[in-house]
Amino acid sequence: MSNEQILTLKAEAQRRPIGVFDSGVGGLTVLRELYRQLPNESIIYLADTARLPYGTRSAAEILQFSREIIIWMVQQQVKMLVLACNTTDALALSTLREEFNLPILGLILPGARFAVQKGSRLGVIATPATAASNAYRHAILEIEPTAEVWQVGCPEFVPLVEQNRLYDPYTTEVAQQYLAPLLEQRIDTLIYGCTHYPHLSPVLRELLPVHIQFVDPAEHVVAATAQELDLIGERNTFSPLPTRFCVSGCPQQFAKLSLQWLGFTPAVEKVCLPSVALASLESHSNQ
Ligand code: DGL
Repeated sequence: MSNEQILTLKAEAQRRPIGVFDSGVGGLTVLRELYRQLPNESIIYLADTARLPYGTRSAAEILQFSREIIIWMVQQQVKMLVLACNTTDALALSTLREEFNLPILGLILPGARFAVQKGSRLGVIATPATAASNAYRHAILEIEPTAEVWQVGCPEFVPLVEQNRLYDPYTTEVAQQYLAPLLEQRIDTLIYGCTHYPHLSPVLRELLPVHIQFVDPAEHVVAATAQELDLIGERNTFSPLPTRFCVSGCPQQFAKLSLQWLGFTPAVEKVCLPSVALASLESHSNQ
C-alpha cells in the first residue's frame, strides 16, 4: 500500500462518527460534553425511546437491547461507542466488550475515578437497576477502599424528566424523599448515577446544602473518549458532520423535549433496530 493510500484510510477512519446511545434524553448530557470537549467529532445519537425506561428492566433485557443498538451502530460505521446510559454500563458493559470488536466507553469508571478525588462520603443517585447492581460502589471501592458509598434507586426521576415535569412541585417532593437518606449519612459528594439526572440539577441543588459537591460522570467519560481517540489515532481533524438524532419511538416528542437542552429543535429520524438472535452475534462482532 502506498503512503498516499495509508493517509486516505487514516483520514476515513478519523472522519467516522462516534455512536452515543441512551434510552432517551438523558444522553444529551453526554452529547453536550462531547460538543464542548470534542467539537470536531461527528456523532450519531440514538435514543431507544420505544423501550424506556431501562432502569426498571432486567439485566437480560438491557443486554439484548444494547446488542441490537450496537449492531445498528456498527452498520452506521461508527468508530467507537459511548454508552450514555449508566444502566447499560452497570448491567452489560463487560459482556458487550467481549462480544464487539470496537472501543466501548462507559460512564461509571471515569465518574468513580473523579468522585474519589472530590470526597470520601459519596452518595449515588441512580436507576433502580444501577443501584441494585452495586456497580458504583464496586468501582469506587476498588479505587479508594476507605471511601464510604450510599446508593439510592430513584425510579420516578426518568419518567418525570421524559414527561418534562422538571419544575412540577411533585418532582421536588419525590427528590426530597430520594435525597433524605443521603442527607442523613452526611454525604459530601453527590454522583449523578443516571444521565437523565443532571437535567434535574436546578431542583437537586436547591435541596442540598451548598458544601455538597456534584459529580457528573458525563464530563469524565468524554475526557476518557478524547484519550482513547488519541491512543488509537482517530481524533477527527476535519470538520464534523451535523449530529444525526435517531429514535426508536416518536421523533416529534424527542425533538420537542430536546429543544431546551440543545438550544435548537433537532431533525429526528425514526429507525428500526435489528432484532438479533444470539447465534448471529458472532458474525457481527467479527466485522
Ligand atoms: N439515562 C439512563 C441511565 O443513565 C437510563 C435511564 C432509564 O431509562 O431508566 O441509566
